[in-house]
This record gives sequence, structure tokens and C-alpha cells, in this order.
Amino acid sequence: MRLCQQIDTFGSGHTMKDIIAELERRRDIARLGGGQPRIDAQHGKGKLTARERIDLLMDENSFEEFDMFVEHRSTDFGMEKTKVPGDGVVTGWGTINGRTVYVFAKDFTVFGGSLSEAHARKITKIQDMALQNRCPIIGLFDAGGARIQEGVAALGGYGEVFLRNTLTSGVVPQISVIMGPCAGGDVYSPAMTDFIFMVRDTSYMFVTGPDVVKTVTNETVTAEELGGAKVHTTRSSIADRAYENDLEALLQMRRLMDFLPLNNKSGVPVLPTRDPADRVELSLDTLIPDNPNKPYDIKELILKVVDEADFFEIQDQFAKNIVTGFARIEGRTIGIVANQPMILAGVLDSDASRKAARFVRFCDCFEIPIVTFVDVPGFLPGTAQEYGGLIKHGAKLLFAYAEATVPKVTLITRKAYGGAYDVMSSKHIRGDVNYAWPSAEIAVMGAKGAAEILYRSELADPEKLEKRIADYKERFANPFIAAERGYIDEVILPRNTRRRLARALNMLRGKEVTNPWKKHDNIPL
Ligand code: HXC
Repeated sequence: MRLCQQIDTFGSGHTMKDIIAELERRRDIARLGGGQPRIDAQHGKGKLTARERIDLLMDENSFEEFDMFVEHRSTDFGMEKTKVPGDGVVTGWGTINGRTVYVFAKDFTVFGGSLSEAHARKITKIQDMALQNRCPIIGLFDAGGARIQEGVAALGGYGEVFLRNTLTSGVVPQISVIMGPCAGGDVYSPAMTDFIFMVRDTSYMFVTGPDVVKTVTNETVTAEELGGAKVHTTRSSIADRAYENDLEALLQMRRLMDFLPLNNKSGVPVLPTRDPADRVELSLDTLIPDNPNKPYDIKELILKVVDEADFFEIQDQFAKNIVTGFARIEGRTIGIVANQPMILAGVLDSDASRKAARFVRFCDCFEIPIVTFVDVPGFLPGTAQEYGGLIKHGAKLLFAYAEATVPKVTLITRKAYGGAYDVMSSKHIRGDVNYAWPSAEIAVMGAKGAAEILYRSELADPEKLEKRIADYKERFANPFIAAERGYIDEVILPRNTRRRLARALNMLRGKEVTNPWKKHDNIPL
């Protein structure tokens, strides 16, 4: 790794042609990063190089690189003899479908992509530009953490990156894609960004690796078991989605960016669509099964009402009892939150509440209207949930919805029971337009549970109890009691859902609501 020695300094008396040739020569050396053998090794692991990744992520020929010739200044451990232009990270800006995005990509071929003081400065320069110019920033991670030879200078560099992640949060979208190792100091920057995506089998994230784990806890675990894409998408919920390979991940990032606003004041992007806003979907009239305990797939409703069935799901493998993601209606981005009756009957538990709360807050930060589809039998009972802090996690979702000032349109398709009725963007916490299908059941709890509590003395008499259950159902298993009070603005036909949502969102476009002044709120973290 002595590439620096191949670079001569400019001599005097050269023609412009020589000078340009010298620039090209220097660029070529910088573009080779850690050199061809390391690039080959990277490819051998099924990974692309930093520059190949950027080329796929950005529009063709749109990427402009900054700081290609930056080198570290470390002199410890013989480092002065090993300098590589670029110092392990490629930074710059370009466009994705014509919209400006800043990017940095760790170059694993150079010191394992590890972070030095100079490397950190390159990243913070890009972070500062993204914030100042109000455009999103994407980080591609593939690195071994702090540059071990630099010690505290590397730690300081991380701190500078973390500070900017925090200050940028809620101003411009920050996206992290983990495409190789991501360990030690490297994990906290992604953790403070809005979304983390991973590549299956080639990426892993952990604070301390398998060797340290073995020493400290005596657990034997592989890198994949400790922090692979499966763990982080299904168990820890650190990652929002995983993809098969680098190419798929990068193409999906391009698709995601088309849904996201550039910043918190830009408004959502508007894409042309051929899908008519008044499209009637007759099949929705039979989506709800006759048996109220039979599940149906809420994703069918989502796909049938949004533009061109285009739905970008977030956290598709975690807390599947709630569905979150981006879609469009009339070409404009919306955030969707929907209980999923197919999984745990769509119940709200701690994981589902945390997942949806974070999504609602992202939408509110960036002025993305929220459409909520409700079919929820309540909060999940049990010691596991209560000991795990269900009260606090449930409160996160309640808090997130209540403080959100973006347009909020809610549709109750079937059950809306108990506290979960209030939580799921109800009128009482400033739902702007609250619809229900005629099949909606809005009540304190299900008829059976209610009758068993109210008529405990009749438990021994099944016939009597059945009658009580039927009475309760008759009275409450419908949307009209809520509609009588104005908690539901209108009971709508399922087939007209797309048109009604489109009209409601259109009507709410000029919404202006501000919360009382405060330094910031104190959401139950
Ligand atoms: C300097 C590093 C490096 C690092 C890797 N390299 N990590 N150089 N600092 N942190 C170098 C290697 O020496 C090697 O150089 C080249 O990168 C490729 O690394 P390999 O080990 O050959 O690759 P691989 O087998 O794929 O393993 C990748 C790896 C491993 C799992 C990431 O390199 C590793 O465990 N690295 C150290 C991870 C770590 O503990 N980092 C510090 C975390 S502490 P040569 O020239 O030999 O090919 C931290 C604290 C910050 O980050 C906290 C802030 C809050």
C-alpha cells in the first residue's frame, strides 16, 4: 500500500497537456483505492467497490467526487509510509432521478475502510453540505471501525460525525446502507439515521465482534449470528430491510428516494401517475370475511388503493402485526400504517407500537401525510408484554400520533377496540378525516369479553350468555355509535376507498397546525 510513492509532484516547465495528463494519472491512482488485488478480493466476496456502488446508486455521470486526494496525517506505527489518496472513503454528491443527494461510501480496500481523522473530515464535510443545502445524505458502510493506528483522533472523528447525525435529524433524510462489516464506532452513525438497510450474507453490524463476546460473556457466536441481516431485520429491528445483493440494495435505495422529500420544508415529491384517483375497486366490498374472527390480508387493501400498487414497505420482517411503508396517492407520497389481521389478529404489542411510532415520527418530521388503516383487537395481554414495558411502548405510538401535525386520514375497516382505538389516529388525537367501513366495530372490547365481564353471574348459563353477547354485538359491533358522536366523519363504501382517501388528502393539502412552543417534547423513550 505505497501508492503515494507512485505519485510525483508537478514539475515546472510542463505544458498544459502534461499537466492534464498528470491530473488524470493522479485520479486513476486514487480511483484504484487499495489496488487491484484488494478490489479483486472485494469482488470475490460478492461485494462491489465503493465507486461501483456509487455509480449504481446515482444517475449516470451525475456523481461529483470531493476530496479524492485527501490523505491521513498519522505518523504512528509507520503509517507515514502507507498513505492512499481518498483515505478509505469516497464522498461527493450527485442526483437520483434528477434530485440532489449527498453520498459517502466506505472503501474497504483502503485500511479496511477504517475511520481516521482525515476520513472523518471528509464525511463531516458532506454532512455539513447536506444540511446547509437541505438535501438527503446516504452513507454506504463497509468498514472495520476506528482506524486502530490513530487512537483518540479516530474517536474524535466519530464524535464529529455523530454530532452532525443528530443535528441533521429531522431536517434532511439520512439513509444508511450496510454492505459489509460495520463494527465498533461505525454502528452508531447509522443508528442515528432515519433508515438502515442491509445486504444478506455479506453485511453485519455489532458494537463488539464475536471475539470480544467470547472473552467477556463466553458465548460462541458467528458474525452472522451476532449481527447479520436476519438478526437485525427480524429480532433487533435495527435494520429496516435486507436485500439479496449490492445491486438490489442500491436499486431499491433509488426507488426509496423517489418517495422521500428532500428536506422538512420541501414537501413530498410528486410523480406522474396514470392511476385515476377515482378508481373504484369493487373487490374491496368483499375483503372483510363474514366471520369477524377470520383474518384477511391488509396488504391487499393497501395495494388496491395506492397508485399503481407501488408500496415500499419499511420493517417488513419485524412486528408483522403492523404494516408500515410509503406509497402514493395522486402521485404524492403518503406514509401508511396498518394493523395486519393476518398476524396475531393485528394486535398492538410492544414491538408493533415502537415500529409504528418511529415511522409516524419520520412522516411527521418530513411532512408526509399519514394514512392509517385500523383493524385492531386491542393491546396484547400477558406478563411478557407487561414486564417488557408495553405501557411505555404503547405510549410511544399514542404520543407520536397525538403530536403529529401532518394530515392524518384514518379508515377503520373492522375492529377498533379499547385503548388501541384511541391510539390508531383517532379523532380524539387530531385525526383530520376519520372514515369507517360499514363493517367497522368500534367498542371498548369484543362482544364476548364484554358480556363475560358485565354478566359474570351468567357464565354458567351458556344460552343466556350467548344472548348477552348477541345484544352487545347488536349495540356496539358497528360504526354508527361512533358516527353519531362525530368520532367517525363518514361511513364509506369499501369500493370507493381510493377516491375518498384521495379527496381527503387533497382537501388537507393546506393544513396548518402548530403545537405549543417547547424546546422539545419528552416522548416516552
Ligand atoms: C485499521 C484495519 C481496521 C481498523 C481492518 N483493517 N480494520 N486497519 N483499523 N479498524 C485493515 C486490516 O488490517 C487489513 O489490512 C484490511 O483492513 C482488511 O482487513 P482484514 O482483517 O484482512 O479483512 P477481513 O478478514 O474481511 O475482516 C474484516 C474485519 C476485521 C472483521 C472488519 O478487519 C476486523 O475485525 N477489524 C477490526 C475491527 C475493530 O475491532 N475495529 C475497531 C473497533 S473500536 P491489511 O493491510 O493487513 O490487508 C471502535 C471504537 C470507536 O471502532 C468507538 C466510537 C464511539
